[in-house]
Amino acid sequence: MTGASSGIGQAVAQTMAKNGYIVYGTSRRANFETVDCGGASYIMVPMTLENDQTIADAVTYVLDKQGQIDVLVNAAGSGIAGAIEETTVNEAKTQFDVCFFGVISVLNHVLPAMREKQSGTVINIGSMAACFPIAFQAMYSAVKSALFMLTLSLRMEVKPFGIKCSTVEPGDTKTGFTAKRVFTKKSAKTAYRLPMERALYEMIRSELLSPGPERCAEIILKVARMKNPPARVSVGFRYKVLYALSKLTSWRFKERIIRAIYLRKDPPSDAVWTYEKQFKEN
Ligand SMILES: NC(=O)c1ccc[n+]([C@@H]2O[C@H](COP(=O)([O-])OP(=O)(O)OC[C@H]3O[C@@H](n4cnc5c(N)ncnc54)[C@H](OP(=O)(O)O)[C@@H]3O)[C@@H](O)[C@H]2O)c1
Repeated sequence: MTGASSGIGQAVAQTMAKNGYIVYGTSRRANFETVDCGGASYIMVPMTLENDQTIADAVTYVLDKQGQIDVLVNAAGSGIAGAIEETTVNEAKTQFDVCFFGVISVLNHVLPAMREKQSGTVINIGSMAACFPIAFQAMYSAVKSALFMLTLSLRMEVKPFGIKCSTVEPGDTKTGFTAKRVFTKKSAKTAYRLPMERALYEMIRSELLSPGPERCAEIILKVARMKNPPARVSVGFRYKVLYALSKLTSWRFKERIIRAIYLRKDPPSDAVWTYEKQFKEN
């Protein structure tokens, strides 16, 4: 379980531990500590997704202790926001290093053990951002779309070895993700500032007002227990309906709706988030 120090990953680690799984969580700042969670516990192992050696070491540690990995949940992630024109290739790469190449590296190390045992379940945490692109969040939507495509291909590749794969796609969820969002360096200073402020205010407002990660963790537990999990799962009734509707409508119509929600309204004077507050401008 990657990304178990916070948010969705932490909730999944707790839920799975309470439901009888032996859970090993990872994060950059872990130090093999045992975390208690209401009558159950799990162990935190250090892993940095941009560093393949730390991934190899973490997987070896778990395999040495348990001899097998039955379920892998790729929950670690972060988001970058900014106009495409003003996002450098290096900034875009940081998004893919964590949420895409990091996942590939974890799979490189975990799949051989699952293949040997001829069983296992891989759950990648995607995002509704893969189906609903929002302006100024292009790199995040792109990486989550790429992750979904990777999951679809992986399902076909590993099915003969008894390995199941699924993407769970949460919508807005109240976690540490919002505060840790990275902004492209140029983002606050340019012609894009007003539309970006509108879009980011709405995104951040919605994340902060959304439910926490507990429901998402329950759904991931359910997927982990399924004999034949679907390729993708939305979290919550609202997002299931939105996803179904999105399949029935044209991109032109979807774009109109997304623009109306994210790009038309200025943040109110008492906005929880503005560039001024984010960057403490004078
Ligand atoms: N929150 C939302 O609204 C939302 C919606 C849809 C999808 N998601 C997805 O859900 C997943 C979990 O996000 P969250 O909302 O739970 O965010 P979060 O609370 O910020 O948790 C992110 C986790 O990822 C780990 N992590 C981040 N960068 C890492 C790196 N470079 N190497 C290793 N670990 C790293 C963090 O651990 P350390 O910082 O301790 O290393 C932390 O445990 C992400 O994939 C995110 O894209 C979130």
